[in-house]
Amino acid sequence: MRIIYKKSWEIKENTITDEGVYQKRREILKTMPLGFLSLGMGMQGIFAEENITELVFNEKKYSFIKNINYLQEELTPFEKASTYNNFYEFGMQKDDPYYRAKILKTSPWDLVIDGEVEKPLKISLEKILQSMPLEERVYRFRCVEAWSMIIPWIGFEFNKLLKLAKPTSQAKYVIFETLKQDDMPAVKNPFLAANIPFPYVEGLRIDEAMHPLCILAVGMYGRKLPNQNGAPLRLVVPWKYGFKNIKSIVRITLSKTQPLSTWQRLAGDEYGFYANVNPDVAHPRWSQASERFIGEGYRPTRIKTQIFNGYGDEVARLYANMDLEKNF
Ligand code: MTE
Repeated sequence: MRIIYKKSWEIKENTITDEGVYQKRREILKTMPLGFLSLGMGMQGIFAEENITELVFNEKKYSFIKNINYLQEELTPFEKASTYNNFYEFGMQKDDPYYRAKILKTSPWDLVIDGEVEKPLKISLEKILQSMPLEERVYRFRCVEAWSMIIPWIGFEFNKLLKLAKPTSQAKYVIFETLKQDDMPAVKNPFLAANIPFPYVEGLRIDEAMHPLCILAVGMYGRKLPNQNGAPLRLVVPWKYGFKNIKSIVRITLSKTQPLSTWQRLAGDEYGFYANVNPDVAHPRWSQASERFIGEGYRPTRIKTQIFNGYGDEVARLYANMDLEKNF
């Protein structure tokens, strides 16, 4: 018997855990020999104690479950994941978002879903939090700049929200747009972010967007998203480079045609529409064969990059018969 015996994104009752048990299980898993893990001996006993936990948002509590099917051995510490960021609306330095994103106005927050849909929507963040099934998933996160982290996100499958708007049969692509706030430093002063045109825009093919691994995150590390990580709502597509993971989303438009994303507009020969993590397709200026893992301590660890960031078993079929070098 293996731990993952259903589809990896399906939640089973016995995968629900609280913080204490979750930490305890991590400790136990670390000390277990591999054979023990693959036999799953004693697992039922450990997992049975688990239960639901809560995310606090504007003083209200929302339940979420911890989906242990996504456990990874090592997490990037919260202090690193929340201070080493790319959010160019706040500047180009990695710590600019940490210092400057405090001005992001995240409440009230409405999300519009329009375009090729039968039921255009304007939905508040509160309604989303009340109606979507929140869960924690630990995903690998790989930036195109060749660094990586492992992050416990709290969110929900994007397809669940998209279905509410009923995409038409014409909807082939999904376009995402970030809030553009006049007092964002690089909106006020475009030189701060090399004249990147805002609002930041990203896109997915609809079958990619509907894939169960594609989530909208509202939290990380058991708490709501820090502003610098894309509060209150950001995309997480774990098999793609980080720049696809658009932050602070206010509009989602379904479209017949493939959009031009922000990075394609800026440098289409370096940043493609697909941006699937691929060790064999180098960026024109650097190799993608390995990555610098940002974990505990100061010594960076270089590790091999995995095709589709390690999610190939689940997503490779989306790209069957496609030339991944051409469609980078
Ligand atoms: N979304 C917006 N709106 N603006 C940005 O500059 N940067 C992207 C992506 N989403 C970006 C964005 C890039 S390049 C990366 S690597 C990730 O966000 C970084 O996410 P993190 O700061 O949570 O690690």
